[in-house]
Amino acid sequence: MTIHIGAKPGEIAETVLMPGDPLRAKWAAETFLTEARLINEVRGMLGYTGLWRGNRVTIHGSGMGMASLSIYANELIRDYGAKTLIRIGSCGAMQDHVAIRDVIIAMTATTLSTPSSGIFRELNFAPHADWSLLRAAVTAAEVRGVPTHVGGIYSADVFYDERPDLNDIMTRHGILGVEMEAAELYNLALRHKVRALAVLTVSDHLLTGAALPADQRQSSFGDMVEIALAAAFPES
Ligand code: HPA
Repeated sequence: MTIHIGAKPGEIAETVLMPGDPLRAKWAAETFLTEARLINEVRGMLGYTGLWRGNRVTIHGSGMGMASLSIYANELIRDYGAKTLIRIGSCGAMQDHVAIRDVIIAMTATTLSTPSSGIFRELNFAPHADWSLLRAAVTAAEVRGVPTHVGGIYSADVFYDERPDLNDIMTRHGILGVEMEAAELYNLALRHKVRALAVLTVSDHLLTGAALPADQRQSSFGDMVEIALAAAFPES
């Protein structure tokens, strides 16, 4: 047990999928895993461990924002031995050629700051995904015929952004979408020599104002979970 995770030693798999929303962790575990078992519910942050095609997987919520994700990712890596962490979540599109429901696989994540900024100080560190996971995720998305974009994303500090000029700068520099967690996941994974990736579904569009209807959120989310699982276990 750690401060924020009630799982016993050995109850968390080396591969962890991390949606922001704990109820999505529950849904994904019940939908995609066999023998899924609840292993954490401290503060309502649900985590499940089960099997996907015979491989042990944990699906554990991260909460919203890098500060929350950092708590869970640190404990999963340092205390439970997680070796592969894949964020699955939603993002807002920042390019015209990216559409609602498309999948974005994040090669890098640009930020104003992260919980690691204090360590990096004057450095503009470039948090980046693990290449083997990224390559496997792209292959998995192609096999499934899911419209997918690979490139940089923006991990914002706030959802209600009072600086629309920042979004403009991101768009002008080819950033595909905005979310709030991936950069610190990448920082932590690089620091602790484990693998990380973010696979995101476009839920809203910052340039057009379009949004994914509530009744279509679950099915789009399913494509992303399958891509993440196939990326983690490319031989399965
Ligand atoms: N901003 C930040 N995070 C998000 C957004 C957004 O527009 N959409 C989905 N996650």
